[in-house]
Amino acid sequence: MTFTSDDLDRIAADLAATGEIDARYSYMGQGAATWDRFTTWQEGDPTPNVLHFTLGMLRDAHDDLFAALPGPVRVVDLGPGNGVPVRGVLERLRASGRLDGYSGVDASAEMLAIAEANLRAWLGPAAPLRFHRRDFTAAPLADLRGPATLALLTGGTLLNFADPVAVLRHAREAADVVAFVARADTVANRTFFRFGETETGEDIPVRYRVMLDRLGVHRDRYEPEVGFDDRTRQRFLRIRLTSPVTVAGRLPLPAGRSVHLWRYHHRTEAELTMMLDAAGYTPLTARRTPDGEFLLLAGTVAAPSPVDRSASSTSP
Ligand SMILES: C[S@@+](CC[C@H](N)C(=O)[O-])C[C@H]1O[C@@H](n2cnc3c(N)ncnc32)[C@H](O)[C@@H]1O
Repeated sequence: MTFTSDDLDRIAADLAATGEIDARYSYMGQGAATWDRFTTWQEGDPTPNVLHFTLGMLRDAHDDLFAALPGPVRVVDLGPGNGVPVRGVLERLRASGRLDGYSGVDASAEMLAIAEANLRAWLGPAAPLRFHRRDFTAAPLADLRGPATLALLTGGTLLNFADPVAVLRHAREAADVVAFVARADTVANRTFFRFGETETGEDIPVRYRVMLDRLGVHRDRYEPEVGFDDRTRQRFLRIRLTSPVTVAGRLPLPAGRSVHLWRYHHRTEAELTMMLDAAGYTPLTARRTPDGEFLLLAGTVAAPSPVDRSASSTSP
């Protein structure tokens, strides 16, 4: 798959405006297969890793999440990856006769195809599964709503966005309950840069290298840089151009310019809970790994205040 002309226009315009190429483009094309290989490898890895912790915390939170949702439950999976993280949630809901349906939402057609093939194989051809190619941070989500809806953001995805609160707030279009997984700030993990998708001898995750290649930014034109920004409290991956390039055939950039590719916000559990609150959710439940580094936080959409209720009841 190559980027569409619209993708290239947007990548160039966003890069000119923000200095960043949105991470979602790294999951398109070959990037989807790379992520699938990484997740499959994590699943079988004997050493505990973020996927194992995610699956364990989701399992532990099932009862709390489902108790907050009456009757049949729709699961809206925001960025499903290869579908592995959500599998247990769907199997559990189906076993209790409460699975209304599943909607996987992803910007990458290739990622969706992998998730669909996996989930249909695991849950059978009759399972009520739907897949939607959308930017879940901006595209409408209200049509995905079921009788009671659980929106999921697993894999640390939320803290990769520039404005996680805005993403959580947008998810309210579909969610009655939202649950997300995050790596909390331990200070020591501010220097954690073992990208699991880096091939031997490479100093940049494969899907970023491949994405940059497809944008005409070849490996001999930049040096990767990783670090921690004390001001914004973000780990970052960016590249510094060592030669002039024209990105996406549209945007000329000089040598020396840096291009932001990836971030991870470092926030404490209290700050993550405040994010839920700021996005209009009431904290529902929290799960932590024994070392406190990985968290699953969930919130219910806060009931409108009496003032909001009276305002909406008088609107036409
Ligand atoms: C870090 S992966 C996590 C995948 C999976 N949830 C997991 O836990 O393994 C991020 C996922 O979100 C998708 N994604 C990232 N930004 C997106 C956006 N703005 N709109 C839709 N999908 C997006 C990617 O294509 C990918 O499937």
